[in-house]
Amino acid sequence: MNKEEKYAALLPQVKALCEGETDMIAKMANVSALLHSEFGFWWTGFYRIENSELKIENSANTTNNSQFPTPNSQLILGPFQGPIACVHIAYGRGVCGTAWKERRTVVVPDVEEFPGHIACSSESRSEIVVPVFAGDEIIAVLDIDSRELATFDDTDRRYLEEVVKYLV
Ligand code: SME
Repeated sequence: MNKEEKYAALLPQVKALCEGETDMIAKMANVSALLHSEFGFWWTGFYRIENSELKIENSANTTNNSQFPTPNSQLILGPFQGPIACVHIAYGRGVCGTAWKERRTVVVPDVEEFPGHIACSSESRSEIVVPVFAGDEIIAVLDIDSRELATFDDTDRRYLEEVVKYLV
């Protein structure tokens, strides 16, 4: 199976894992395990936007909602597969913080060429980070690392953007 066929076969599994399940952590855990085991990536997991639920809960009563994310907002490590990773990533920092800030998927063919890349593992050579949108709000990012250069391309971007839609 080529990459495209693998992703196409995986989407119904993602759907089955997420359908009817309301617990976001459980869904993130299974989706990261599925992607990791199917593709043999080096690191596969989620960083959650800290306090995003708080922000949603408070949104009806607050007037400073537009202040979110603040310069102090950060990502916090969520469910993942692979070696241990950094726990906190600031808004706009690294590949993850950049995907969050720019509200788009970031594909990095060579992490050494990405200014500000955060090296949780020296083994990581290429990376893709996909924002998880709940409506207009980003609630998390999916981060995948590879030990090979240029692992990720537009096919990964397209399918992974579909995968994360099943989480919300
Ligand atoms: N490389 C990421 C940090 C997270 S680890 O790869 C798991 C970044 O630059 O944001």
